[in-house]
Amino acid sequence: MKLFLDSAITDEIKHGLEYWDLDGLTTNPKHIKNSGKPFLKVIEEIAELFAGTEKPVSVEVDPHITDWEQIVEQGIKLSKMSPNFVIKVGVSEDGFKAIRELTKQGIRTNATLIFSVAQAWHAARAGAYFISPFIGWKETYGDSTTTFVLEVAEMLERYQYESEIIAAAIRNGRQMADVALAGAHCVTAGLSVYQESMQNPYTVHGEKVFQNAWDDTPKS
Ligand code: E4P
Repeated sequence: MKLFLDSAITDEIKHGLEYWDLDGLTTNPKHIKNSGKPFLKVIEEIAELFAGTEKPVSVEVDPHITDWEQIVEQGIKLSKMSPNFVIKVGVSEDGFKAIRELTKQGIRTNATLIFSVAQAWHAARAGAYFISPFIGWKETYGDSTTTFVLEVAEMLERYQYESEIIAAAIRNGRQMADVALAGAHCVTAGLSVYQESMQNPYTVHGEKVFQNAWDDTPKS
C-alpha cells in the first residue's frame, strides 16, 4: 500500500520525502490555506519538490466551480504546471463528466469526497485514476467504514476497473491497518498521524527494559 502525505506545508513534505520516501502527495483547499501561502506559489513550490520523480501530487480545482467545462479548463491549466499533478475533482454529475473529459485528454484525476460505493463506481466508469473515499469524515458523522473500502475494492476488481483507491482522511494506525486489509492501494494522512502510527507505548516500555539490561551488563 502506497503512503501519501496529506499536506501543503513544504517542511512537512520535505520531511516525508526524506524520512519515509513517501510515494506521493494529496492536497486540498484546506491544506493550501493552512500553508499560509497563495495557491499558485505553494503549488509551484510543491511541484519543485517532486520534479524528476514519478510521484503523483493531487491538486484540487476551485471547489466553487460546478460546471464540467470550467473544471476541465482549470484542470488542463493545472496539469500543465507539472507532470506530477493529478487533478482532484469533487464528485457530482458535472464532476464525473469532467473526470471523463480530462481522462480522454490523458490527464490523470483524483475523484474526491467519495462517501458511497455508487459514487466510487461512477468515478471508476468515468476513468478516474484515483478514487478517494473519506474514512475519517464518515466516522466523525457516525457511519461505520468497516466494509466501505472492502466493497469499493471488490467492485473495482470484479469489473476490472483500473482506478486506485486512496483511503483518505485517515486518523490513526487502526484505520491504516483496516484499509490495508480491505484492499486500499494507497493511504493518505497528515504527518502527525503517520508519526503516531510509528510509535507504541509497549515499544517505549521495551526500549527501557533493554536499556536497563544493557546498563546492568559488564561491557568486558
Ligand atoms: C484527501 O485527499 C483529502 O485531502 C483529505 O484526506 C481530507 O481530509 P482531512 O483534511 O480532514 O484529513
